[in-house]
Amino acid sequence: MNDPRIDISNAPDYVRHRSLREWVSRIARLTKPERIVWCDGTQEENDRLCAELVAAGTFLRLNEKLRPGSYLARSHPTDVARMEDRTFICSARKDDAGPTNNWVDPAEMRGTIDRLYDGCMRGRTMYVVPFSMGPIGSHIAQVGVEISDSAYVVVNMRMMTRMGRAVVDHLGEDGAFVPCVHSVGAPLAAGQKDVPWPCNDKEKWIVQFPETREIWSFGSGYGGNALLGKKCLALRIASVMARDEGWLAEHMLILGVESPSGEKHYVSAAFPSACGKTNFAMLIPPKTFAGWKVTTIGEDIAWIKPGKDGRFYAINPEYGFFGVAPGTSDATNPNAMKTLRSNVIFTNVALTPEGDVWWEGMTDTPPARLIDWQGQEWTPGCGRLAAHANSRFTVPASQCPSMDANWEDPAGVPISAFLFGGRRSSTVPLVVEAPSWEDGVYMAATLGSETTAAITGKVGVVRRDPMAMLAFCGYNMGDYFAHWLKVGKAAAQPPKIFRVNWFRRDAAGKFMWPGFGENMRVLQWIVERCEGSAKGRTTPLGIMPAYEDLSWKGLEKFTRDQYAELSEVEHDAWVEELHSHDELLGKLGAHLPGELEARRTLLHQKLAA
Ligand code: OXD
Ligand code: MN
Repeated sequence: MNDPRIDISNAPDYVRHRSLREWVSRIARLTKPERIVWCDGTQEENDRLCAELVAAGTFLRLNEKLRPGSYLARSHPTDVARMEDRTFICSARKDDAGPTNNWVDPAEMRGTIDRLYDGCMRGRTMYVVPFSMGPIGSHIAQVGVEISDSAYVVVNMRMMTRMGRAVVDHLGEDGAFVPCVHSVGAPLAAGQKDVPWPCNDKEKWIVQFPETREIWSFGSGYGGNALLGKKCLALRIASVMARDEGWLAEHMLILGVESPSGEKHYVSAAFPSACGKTNFAMLIPPKTFAGWKVTTIGEDIAWIKPGKDGRFYAINPEYGFFGVAPGTSDATNPNAMKTLRSNVIFTNVALTPEGDVWWEGMTDTPPARLIDWQGQEWTPGCGRLAAHANSRFTVPASQCPSMDANWEDPAGVPISAFLFGGRRSSTVPLVVEAPSWEDGVYMAATLGSETTAAITGKVGVVRRDPMAMLAFCGYNMGDYFAHWLKVGKAAAQPPKIFRVNWFRRDAAGKFMWPGFGENMRVLQWIVERCEGSAKGRTTPLGIMPAYEDLSWKGLEKFTRDQYAELSEVEHDAWVEELHSHDELLGKLGAHLPGELEARRTLLHQKLAA
């Protein structure tokens, strides 16, 4: 057993990949699981694991009539979200991780890993989960293999990625894969009874080694901490691959917009967490937009490669949605509500007496009685949230009624525009088009969003979140900006870049813009700018629509004065805003590209003129 030459991987005969078997054997020697199971991705396997999760108390089966094929999981109350302070980029040089990432010397981290993972799977099953981010075989896709001691992770990965034997077949004897090791960090002693949500409440680590393209996650079973294809591979590791290979791995949704004349554009948009990304990706145009159609390719991540024709082509590397439940309703996102009718894993939402789910915002009037996300009796007005603010649904993307016919096209879809938007109650107007790629990169690099209680506990503080990638860029942020400048310059037809803000408030603190489906008015202007048919006026910030450049049919009550307030560029506020960009840009030192510094000087001059 301890002879490293002996294959203890328990790999089925169809696994012909020697170094995959060797890696699995090596991890098994380190983590010492009770047994090893290779996941084939079949329905039978999934049913068996779900039944085991029900028996273990991790899953509660929901009412088969109200929510067919669906389950509720409740996490440990300390294991409810991503943990930026426990996330590490262990590049060989500290400078390559940059000032926005936590860094530990890789040799030191290897020592920590040896300590953490030694015997960490004792008494548990070690699952081997081969997965593809993107359609299997797509030239934009990547393969990962996640080893995990959590069956909850396996059934979530089956929804979030293309998972199972087909991926092993695709890998063949020597295909490249990203090795991902996940442990809940809760070994079981002989005879020790398990708990419904095992995790380690003392130590949690989310570790990426960018040079060797490895992921190690310890102590958490929740979301992006444990479903390693998502934030760890598809963003942190993939952003490094993208830098080295000349493409983009971005925290972006992708949607399609089709006009009544049949003209189709794809748009990719980056918003920090908690800015309504899922709602925007599934937007339903207002009734007055007869003939306009919005379709969904993805709602969280985009992998984008320059094509031979000089355009950018994007895929959604994911296969499912891991979305925030609170706030989702028939009013805010009817497509999401339809997607969630069956085959869903809910985590940390509330349970109704009928065996269905509920969360804050799902209905105006809450049910009279619930079991809250911690399993306690709940009544309206009891002072606690029924669902955790970061409670989630995991669901196959294919169930979403707005999925685009091309959402699985291995070649990707051509992107006409990039949008960047944050939650800003003042200063930032509804929509601005960047006059050039460089201006757009500056806009994206200085993207800011006001924090919500769900993210930091502090409300209303502007946090700079460049390209919405602050927590997800796997290398030096200054080099990432330089990479953006480079790929845009190299492309004959890079997308146009726009900044949007749905969240500006008036003097009374009320949102000025109705948002949701009405964002279609902005989308229409954006795609028509891409076609060259919409007008705009030049402002110090870039090109903005005048009132008459937007369509107001069906929203006539929105007055010219209201629009003027919504799109106002206040001189003093912008001078202050430009100074505040320094908070982040100043940290980047010699890594800050000179072009961005020059953009800022130019903006100062334009505002002064
Ligand atoms: C997410 C996030 O969960 O960005 O997608 O936090
Ligand atoms: Mn996200």
